[in-house]
Amino acid sequence: MKVITLRSPAALDNLQLIDGAAPGEPGPGEVRVRVHASSLNFHDYAVAVGILPAADGRIPMSDGAGVVEAVGAGVAEFKVGDHVVSCFFPGWLDGEPTVSDFATTPGDGVDGYAREWIVKPAHWFTHAPAGYSHAEAATLTTAGLTAWRALVVNGGLKAGDSVLVMGTGGVSIFALQFAKAMGATVIATSSSDEKLERLRALGADHTINYKTHADWGAKAFELTGGRGVDHVVEVGGPATLPQSIAAVRVGGHIALIGILTGISGDVPTIALMLKQARLQGLVVGNRRQQIDMVRAIEASGLRPVIDASFPLEKIADAFRHQASGAHFGKICLTY
Ligand SMILES: NC(=O)c1ccc[n+]([C@@H]2O[C@H](COP(=O)([O-])OP(=O)(O)OC[C@H]3O[C@@H](n4cnc5c(N)ncnc54)[C@H](OP(=O)(O)O)[C@@H]3O)[C@@H](O)[C@H]2O)c1
Repeated sequence: MKVITLRSPAALDNLQLIDGAAPGEPGPGEVRVRVHASSLNFHDYAVAVGILPAADGRIPMSDGAGVVEAVGAGVAEFKVGDHVVSCFFPGWLDGEPTVSDFATTPGDGVDGYAREWIVKPAHWFTHAPAGYSHAEAATLTTAGLTAWRALVVNGGLKAGDSVLVMGTGGVSIFALQFAKAMGATVIATSSSDEKLERLRALGADHTINYKTHADWGAKAFELTGGRGVDHVVEVGGPATLPQSIAAVRVGGHIALIGILTGISGDVPTIALMLKQARLQGLVVGNRRQQIDMVRAIEASGLRPVIDASFPLEKIADAFRHQASGAHFGKICLTY
């Protein structure tokens, strides 16, 4: 079977296509899945280029979607032919967070989904939304669930709330879509006027070019009539956090998710304190939350925005496309 491995030292040129051993039969509690798609996240890129250390020979990619081909004894949740999508934390099934690192995350601490078959415990997967392509389903593991947890689980999003999303990457586009599906007002930013137009076509109520408006946080605040936004989906990190604090309403919520501008920096603590805002970090989510998200997707008809798809063997080109920042939404691998 086709497998991609990452040789040391990690680099895009060291992603190698190999002929891996055929998968075996699933044991008790396991399923064999024919993986047909994955999707790229900044996390996968960080592993592929060595920002995050990974073992020599690691099979990359945290997201996987495909078809159940065989089920082991005792598996009741899935049957042969079911379409499934992988879980980011295979061991965090429900309840409060129990993980604070990527040791159990496929494509990082353990082998991931850049391969055609996998045999794993059934709880590594959930059902995919009915009618989704494998590429669409693969976008849910990381980007979809992160946006869902930020707004719905942690944020308690409700109709009438206002949401600020930044940039047009995978998490932000999902956040826009979930927010609109649930009746919220969305303010969206981008560095590109052309992408801002596409954000409006997706339902964004207001858009701001963050390159030409350095004070985009204050602008977002104004756009809410001086109340401030209820939720910020903060994917930028240190360089964007001061703007997020400027944008949020008194008593609002900032979901601290991303590191697009770096991994540490100054926090304007007085501004945050005066806003009495809740700044809550999160890393993706658990299996129960993924099941709830899939149900919400089926009820709302939401479809992921896929910018481009590449064959598995073109994985390095897919990462180069991601690194260019030209994409709008998700980039997928199909196989
Ligand atoms: N904590 C978690 O659970 C979790 C989960 C998923 C992702 N993340 C993190 O969230 C971040 C986004 O992930 P992603 O997969 O959605 O990334 P992505 O798809 O690669 O998003 C890249 C986009 O972000 C926008 N961007 C870049 N720099 C920006 C800036 N300074 N201000 C505003 N927007 C900026 C750009 O949009 P424009 O071209 O429109 O300007 C760019 O195209 C990453 O740091 C990732 O590590 C965290």
